[in-house]
Amino acid sequence: MWTIAGASTEYAVAATGDRIDLVAWGPHGVGDGPSPFAVHGKVQYMLPGDVAAVEYAPDGLRPFLGADLAVAGHALTWRLDSVLETDGLAATFADEVSGLRVALRWRFAPGTDVVERWAVVHNDGPSPVTLTRLGSAGFCVPTPGGAELSYLCGQWAEEFTPASTRLTRGRFEIGSAQGVTGHQFAPYLAVDNGDAVYGVELAWTGSWQITADADAAGLTRVRVGRSLDGAPVTLAPGESVTTPVAAGAYSADGLDGLARQWHAYQRGLAGDRLARTPKVIYNSWEATTFDVTADGQLALADIAASLGVETFVVDDGWFVGRDDDHGGLGDWTPDPAKFPDGFGAFVSAVRARGLEFGLWVEPEMVNPRSALYAAHPDWVYQADGRPLTTIRNQYLLDLGRREVFEFVRSTLDSLLGSYPIAYLKWDFNRPRTEADRSVADLDGAHVRNLYRVLDHLRAAHPAVTIEGCAAGGARVDLAMGARTDVLWPSDNTAPLDRLRIQHGFLSAFAPHLMSSWVTDANGMFDERSRSLAFRFVLASAGVLGIGADITKWTAEQRAEAASWVARYKEVRDVVTGGVVHRIGGPGQSRCAVQYTLGDRVVVLAWNAGGLDGLDRVPARDIRLPLRDLDPTARYQAGDAVYSGAHLMSVGLPVRWTHTHDADLVVLELLG
Ligand code: DGJ
Repeated sequence: MWTIAGASTEYAVAATGDRIDLVAWGPHGVGDGPSPFAVHGKVQYMLPGDVAAVEYAPDGLRPFLGADLAVAGHALTWRLDSVLETDGLAATFADEVSGLRVALRWRFAPGTDVVERWAVVHNDGPSPVTLTRLGSAGFCVPTPGGAELSYLCGQWAEEFTPASTRLTRGRFEIGSAQGVTGHQFAPYLAVDNGDAVYGVELAWTGSWQITADADAAGLTRVRVGRSLDGAPVTLAPGESVTTPVAAGAYSADGLDGLARQWHAYQRGLAGDRLARTPKVIYNSWEATTFDVTADGQLALADIAASLGVETFVVDDGWFVGRDDDHGGLGDWTPDPAKFPDGFGAFVSAVRARGLEFGLWVEPEMVNPRSALYAAHPDWVYQADGRPLTTIRNQYLLDLGRREVFEFVRSTLDSLLGSYPIAYLKWDFNRPRTEADRSVADLDGAHVRNLYRVLDHLRAAHPAVTIEGCAAGGARVDLAMGARTDVLWPSDNTAPLDRLRIQHGFLSAFAPHLMSSWVTDANGMFDERSRSLAFRFVLASAGVLGIGADITKWTAEQRAEAASWVARYKEVRDVVTGGVVHRIGGPGQSRCAVQYTLGDRVVVLAWNAGGLDGLDRVPARDIRLPLRDLDPTARYQAGDAVYSGAHLMSVGLPVRWTHTHDADLVVLELLG
């Protein structure tokens, strides 16, 4: 048996013939006892691999209940070669018939309880091998009483909606076949067996799938990995492919505890960049859409600066041919008609107002109406001369091609080198449709070159903050979270809709990644109006931005906005670096998020429901029970002082009125 240990959990596996099986996954010491996965009784009409808690199985070893690796033409079997304890664990397997060599890796991310798993598949044989399934890992959960599966689903403008389903037998699957993470599901699944929650996420920005199989003997096995549907991966002799990292986490503290594991892990992925103060941005998209002019943007910048905004981001519409969404993508030259004194002079004018400058790009895209497409029609994804499909009037460039990669990288280098750009918003507004299936690894080629460009930008332009965006939240995953500074969860910025989206986002992704703007948008799903304060407290739950047409705000609104921006700046280190406890949620009488960092606690609370009769009938304050305070210590919030015990067992009081529907409370530990 081999055991690897994280901060407070451990993961133990053992070899059984040519398989590596899970023995235990839970708190330190959990492996010290008989394995809950041990099988007794006879295996009937299946193979032992079908009922085992196998860590990773080729289809010849587990033919019936879901395998992780398969090749075209025959069932794959292998023999176990070696197991090494090196930076975690490494096991190697070999198939003498095809010549495939597979290395499996397990390791805990330093200082966390998240176990990272991946596989390296190498063709050591004389002929090409086509992989038709290429999972990253299988995670086994004992579910004798069935499994409660929690996931995040949605669509454009409604991303990260929490959902759950009960699985006692059979299969549940989520994923994307779009060549991008997608709006429909986040690559996240949690399995609750009634005693603890086990979660998985995937670090991949192409097509993916997460599949849960519940067998007859009380085991739920979750397969995590890329989806190769329609785009198998062919390895020539001597070639290898490394799967994306599948991450697994255990929590004895429910879904919220699991969320904290993901947050800590993603803070680790951010590394040193987490120490950079997240700047308050203004983004002009909702105010001006494509109607970008230097004067119009500077009018917004004047007011943004007066509100305390630190970075001014010009969104779509700044480049030639971009008066609407029918043209321009690919031609990344500032439009001289929109910036008559030159783009450099415009950027200087923004900076002269004390603001850093930010710019929107969508570098993997091209409109048919563009000079780039006229010059390189062969750069877009296409299939055998068939008609091309447009989505939002645009085509997708085949970033897997070397010349497209060079074009994207040099375009961005040139923009960042020509102007003092401190913030880059990278958008992606259409999934892949056409695909030339003769390419060895179509999805992988695109995604890996995306990562290469992002890694290059970080190395060559380290001061630039990068925001990942894809028509809202279609590119939110561990891999993007590791390569960008912040992610845009949704184009829906309406208060009660956004509250739900952000609540779901925080189940799987950390607040330092959650970009959020204050706008004047009306709800698409919940139209009830909310105050400006509500919108500010909501956008302060992650990285604050403003996206409203602030030229239309009254002097009172601007004064109120300036005071919220100032308050956010006082607490942003706690919000983006703190430990998160969600209290209640949208649709409940309690709806708040507690952030704790050192001696400081910040509570953001919203009225997500009604007004309890507005004092015309007896009512009581809403209480928000806080977590993980010192029960014997005292905490001060303004004039009020509470004991930790009171705050945890009775709760922080809030009271809503017609005009007071949200609050930001800072509690300081008294010495
Ligand atoms: C989609 C993004 O999600 C929006 O924020 C905005 O940048 C538009 N694209 C611009 O076309």
